[in-house]
Amino acid sequence: MSDLRALLGIEHPIILGPFGGLSSTTLTAAVSEAGGLGSFGLYGYDGDRIRATGAELRALTDRPIAVNIWLPMGDEVEPNPQHTVFAQALQPFYEAVGVDVPARPERYNPSLEEQLDAIWEVEPAVLSVVFGVPSAALVEEAHRRGIRVVGTATTVAEAVALAEGGVDALVATGAEAAGHRVSFLRPAEESLVGTFALVPQVVDAVDVPVIAAGGIADRRGVAAAFALGASGVQVGTAFLATSESAANQAHRDAIRTTAADETVLTRAMSGRLARGARNRVVRAIEASGTIAPFPMQNWLTGRFRTAAGEQNLGALQSLWMGQAAPLVEYDTAAEVFAELAAGVPDAAPSDARSDENRNAGEEPAARG
Ligand SMILES: Cc1cc2nc3c(=O)[nH]c(=O)nc-3n(C[C@H](O)[C@H](O)[C@H](O)COP(=O)(O)O)c2cc1C
Repeated sequence: MSDLRALLGIEHPIILGPFGGLSSTTLTAAVSEAGGLGSFGLYGYDGDRIRATGAELRALTDRPIAVNIWLPMGDEVEPNPQHTVFAQALQPFYEAVGVDVPARPERYNPSLEEQLDAIWEVEPAVLSVVFGVPSAALVEEAHRRGIRVVGTATTVAEAVALAEGGVDALVATGAEAAGHRVSFLRPAEESLVGTFALVPQVVDAVDVPVIAAGGIADRRGVAAAFALGASGVQVGTAFLATSESAANQAHRDAIRTTAADETVLTRAMSGRLARGARNRVVRAIEASGTIAPFPMQNWLTGRFRTAAGEQNLGALQSLWMGQAAPLVEYDTAAEVFAELAAGVPDAAPSDARSDENRNAGEEPAARG
């Protein structure tokens, strides 16, 4: 059994990535029930919603699950008078889905403290974080409660910082991946390392188990990740297209029909760089040149994206997907899971490494 499996209490080193705003308790539970680790994205969820989601998940599975939060980076804007100006710039999109231009809210997102208080009550097996190194207090409190902490790195320097910060494992996510680039040391545009180059360098730099993410959608990608030294994989796009996912039909169809070079990294939808299909709304907002800072842009576009999603209007939604979208061919979580599990080698490379470390009496920590 590899380090990661023992560490997370799972049978297969396969993790369903969290989908902030688009996670589904059914999909999360399905992956955990299959013997992997289902993650649930809690971006934007307040304490009550986190507690309700935790109860739903617990009713569906008693296997380990992960929940995911975005750490504050300190550059987040609060609601301010600019809100009205940026909201007006998006007026045609509100009109197209039949909703009013939204007034300024009191807050865009709940505080980290509010989210953590609720997460401690939910008691997930794993807390995964993006956009930074969790504080020592957070890691300590999680460990005190028996919760593993997983960080997310887009560069070697971020991986080293996370390992030094005491995470139990980390996701190394290449630029192929769907959704936000979760870079925190340098601008996302300057942190675009591909999975194939990133994973072995991170494996060489840290002594915690490394989970490869970005561009993995079938057994070949899984086998490659293990050959590069990963102890597990985190997969998003392939699971997002399944019937258990919260993605609507327009989104699932788009994953099946968008070529790798038709996905794009854009700040248009949230104010932060993220990968998805370059659909009409992305092109229009990029052409306008008017993009509010995060999280104002995310909140503002969210008001028409939700309505567009309900109306199955793919042109006005965020069609998040990664460059491996054309590899997606299965319709259920079980089928995707079986395909991925077929790529896991019998003896994961981390077995050999952990023996080496144990012999050398090394403590798991950042190297160099
Ligand atoms: C809709 C969507 C939302 C996502 N939200 C988050 C998130 O909130 N937190 C996170 O750590 N990763 C998030 N991701 C990234 C995935 O969890 C996963 O790491 C990524 O999709 C892996 O790359 P792949 O799509 O090539 O498999 C998101 C991905 C998608 C498609």
